[in-house]
Amino acid sequence: MKNIIKEILLTEDQITARIKELGRMITEDYKGKNLMLVGILKGAVIFMAELAKNIDMPVLMDFMAVSSYGKSSTSTGIVRIVKDLDCSVEDKDILIVEDIIDTGLTLSYLTDNLKKRRAKSVKIVTLLDKPERRKTEVPVDYIGFKIPDEFVVGYGLDYAEQYRNLPYVAALKEGVYSSKTDNVVF
Ligand code: XMP
Ligand code: MG
Repeated sequence: MKNIIKEILLTEDQITARIKELGRMITEDYKGKNLMLVGILKGAVIFMAELAKNIDMPVLMDFMAVSSYGKSSTSTGIVRIVKDLDCSVEDKDILIVEDIIDTGLTLSYLTDNLKKRRAKSVKIVTLLDKPERRKTEVPVDYIGFKIPDEFVVGYGLDYAEQYRNLPYVAALKEGVYSSKTDNVVF
């Protein structure tokens, strides 16, 4: 596993500490509100579980899965809802939980989509942000870490569905993800 990793960008301790801070901020900001976390499958699962444990108030938790067609590491910008929410968002204060914001296209689409369904408010929390890659303006309310433009895995993030369970965030070696086959090259 280690030979595909160039460098650990964020250790488990750094991530845990930052999520505690985010949890405290969110608890403060959502006092008296009807908070519903909407996790974006599958990348946000580990972050959302850890974040939810650090929010000290009742929260609803639901999930959506979106796809940008295929398993490729490059975002096409075409967003398709693969799994929709089970609960209604009407009159709820929605906090979209994402693993990473890259071009911003996914979140821009999702924010509009949830607003149209009459959510009371729609905000975004992301574990990671790659600001250099942004193609569209998206207001991101809570950011765990800004990272450089590198393809990362771990803490929920995958390459070809692998490495989500790494407890840290790591950059892949160059050449690993440039393969057009979508298979990891060892
Ligand atoms: P956009 O470009 O719409 O895309 O902001 C966000 C989605 O792109 C995926 N993504 C990554 N996944 N390592 C990953 O494992 C990365 O470095 C990376 N960059 C973008 C991810 O699915 C995210 O939800
Ligand atoms: Mg992904």
